Amino acid sequence: MNSQIRDIKLAPSGHAKMNWVESKMPVLHRIRQEFIKEQPFKGKRITVCIHLEAKTGILARVLKDGGAEVAVVASNPLSTQDDVVAALVEHGITAFAWHGATAEEYHAHLEEAVKFSPDLMVDDGGDLTVLLHSKYTELLDKVIGGSEETTTGVIRLRSLDKEGKLRIPMVAVNDAQCKYLFDNRYGTGQSVWDAVTRTTNLIIAGKTVVVAGYGWCGKGVALRAKGMGAKIIVTEIDPIKAAEAWMDGFDVMQMKDAIKEGDIFVTVTGNRDVVSAEHLKDAKDGAIFSNAGHFDIEISKPGLEKLSKKVSTAKPGITEYEYHDGRKVYLLGEGRLVNLACGDGHPAEIMDMSFALQAMAMKYLATNPKLAPGVYNVPKDLDERVAKIKLETLGSSIDELTPEQAAYLDSWNLD
Ligand code: NAI
Repeated sequence: MNSQIRDIKLAPSGHAKMNWVESKMPVLHRIRQEFIKEQPFKGKRITVCIHLEAKTGILARVLKDGGAEVAVVASNPLSTQDDVVAALVEHGITAFAWHGATAEEYHAHLEEAVKFSPDLMVDDGGDLTVLLHSKYTELLDKVIGGSEETTTGVIRLRSLDKEGKLRIPMVAVNDAQCKYLFDNRYGTGQSVWDAVTRTTNLIIAGKTVVVAGYGWCGKGVALRAKGMGAKIIVTEIDPIKAAEAWMDGFDVMQMKDAIKEGDIFVTVTGNRDVVSAEHLKDAKDGAIFSNAGHFDIEISKPGLEKLSKKVSTAKPGITEYEYHDGRKVYLLGEGRLVNLACGDGHPAEIMDMSFALQAMAMKYLATNPKLAPGVYNVPKDLDERVAKIKLETLGSSIDELTPEQAAYLDSWNLD
């Protein structure tokens, strides 16, 4: 199939970006060496639907080195880096994506990636899986299985499964410990603030930051904002998470109150209208809104538009909404995942672990082709193996249980 990309001439800077991150992804490199020898994907096609930037490029190449024919497609039109996509095509990978694709173009690209007819697939957010289960069910018979990268995608998978409509085995990579403990928490924590600061060029110290959602991502976002000197307010709907945020030293209140105090907002709940049209009425002049949840529905864009007499681009990545009463508020990255729409996503060392899990999940599915449809956890031994290789590559090692210790931990009689 022919690739659909912006411009192949952009490839040199894409190669440079991939070379840089590759050198920071030693776990994936170790797995690549194994794949080159074992060729677990020989004769198989894999579609990868994740944010198309340099680290994803390395994952796609590792799968190709394992014998697969690989196609890549964007999981979000604003996070695609056209130079990386061009470089991947030069590496013999088929690509359907360009930065800033319209909604129609984005869906047309997804359809091409489905028509590539994969045996295996890596999804991020569930759009590819849902398309296969709705419009292209005839192609499902060939699919051995897939893996899902993020919380929102896993929620969609479980809902599909609950309704008895999931027809393939899907590995919930998001739910592996080596994913959410590092990627969701430390990855999102750092990359959100990288994106916000590089886009706004403003200081975080002294500002009131409102973090909506104190899950794995929200904890990281709040922790890093605290480190930069912000005052933090957390909003939640879960009393346990809210109590945790309180004990971590943050203010906890409802969004209707937080909206009046916040200078910078980060929504990261996976839910819709967390900052609703009603809330937005009370925003401070100059308030900055950003979202790190998977879809651009956490901050009400229709609400912002309704409240505004003028909508304009303040600078690339920042939309200015001038309210009818003259207040101005700002939305970063059109309300899409700010760390990818306005930045380069998570640090390479973090994606090294997440994508090592993805690569192992692909091999697990390829070598267990008869799994029943359903949502599977990453096997514990694979999760632990990623942590073990990571520690090795960091030059660290840990103690092992002695036989006596193992017996002690396994007994009821502690004499
Ligand atoms: P999580 O399930 O650990 O946390 C979500 C939190 O939001 C929960 O504590 C929940 O109680 C809370 N919440 C739900 N509705 C709310 C509301 N109306 N107001 C306040 N809080 C509310 O999920 P996780 O892993 O933190 O992921 C959150 C979102 O971020 C998902 O959409 C996920 O796909 C996405 N994600 C984004 C990443 C990025 O790079 N930006 C990385 C990983 C995940």
